[in-house]
Amino acid sequence: TRTYVVTGAASGIGATTVRLLQERGERTIGIDLRGADIDADLSTAEGRTAAVAQAIEASGGVIDGVIACAGISAPKPITMSVNYFGVTEVLEGLLPALRASDAPRAAVVSSMASLQPNSARLVEAALSGDEAATLAVAEDLIAQDPRAGRAAYPSSKRAISRWVRRESITENWAGAGIPLNAVAPGTVITPMTQELLNNPEGLALVDAHVPMPLNYHQPAESIATLLIWLTSVENTHMAGQTIYVDGGADATLRGDDI
Ligand code: NAI
Repeated sequence: TRTYVVTGAASGIGATTVRLLQERGERTIGIDLRGADIDADLSTAEGRTAAVAQAIEASGGVIDGVIACAGISAPKPITMSVNYFGVTEVLEGLLPALRASDAPRAAVVSSMASLQPNSARLVEAALSGDEAATLAVAEDLIAQDPRAGRAAYPSSKRAISRWVRRESITENWAGAGIPLNAVAPGTVITPMTQELLNNPEGLALVDAHVPMPLNYHQPAESIATLLIWLTSVENTHMAGQTIYVDGGADATLRGDDI
């Protein structure tokens, strides 16, 4: 039995990941705002520190897999805090317990939105690791143009995919024998998207931005099963990748850009 920490465990992709892991006989420790094993607000530094401490304690000090699913899509600065710092700081905080495993793995949920128009300033600010500065950049962009809030989500996902790429090959991860990768979904049917998909204008907008020629909108299982493989013992050599599991949206939008 392996022990997994899953963030965003109370809903959608995170909840499905927990269920599938448990069905396979693995042990899970879920983190979410409420309704998981550990209640914590990953938009704050204090919430992350508390979540990390409780997860390490609950695990007994050895964690085999970390799967970071918690995220929000609000057109607001807080989206950078949850989707970027709420991932990087939890992963880094759990490193001591991962290193204690004999087959440690980590995976995060990015998005095909990482390919959509975003703010290079916001992405660079996040990658500098300074959360206060990142939030200040977001506030500044929104003050100049209220529509700039829309850049928060794609910027948070561009930044987390780039962080995974940079970090995966460092001493912390590859050097410690820990594969670190991301999965980028297209449009997944979860509470995050349900309302949008239920109204005709929302649906048309989503489909215009996320073309999915293969099997259209996807169930959470299509993401959870890959997150589980990426964090399984079988994954020995994949590092730094963002894998698009998106019904062909990346291939459609980026075409030959490879
Ligand atoms: P969801 O809304 O069902 O689940 C997200 C979970 O994250 C919720 O349980 C929520 O409480 C938790 N969360 C949000 N803010 C938090 C905070 N401050 N502290 C702790 N937990 C917090 O959404 P879904 O669809 O399962 O999303 C999971 C991940 O997949 C997110 O990172 C999202 O950006 C990503 N994603 C989702 C897509 C979709 O179409 N649903 C598409 C691409 C990426």
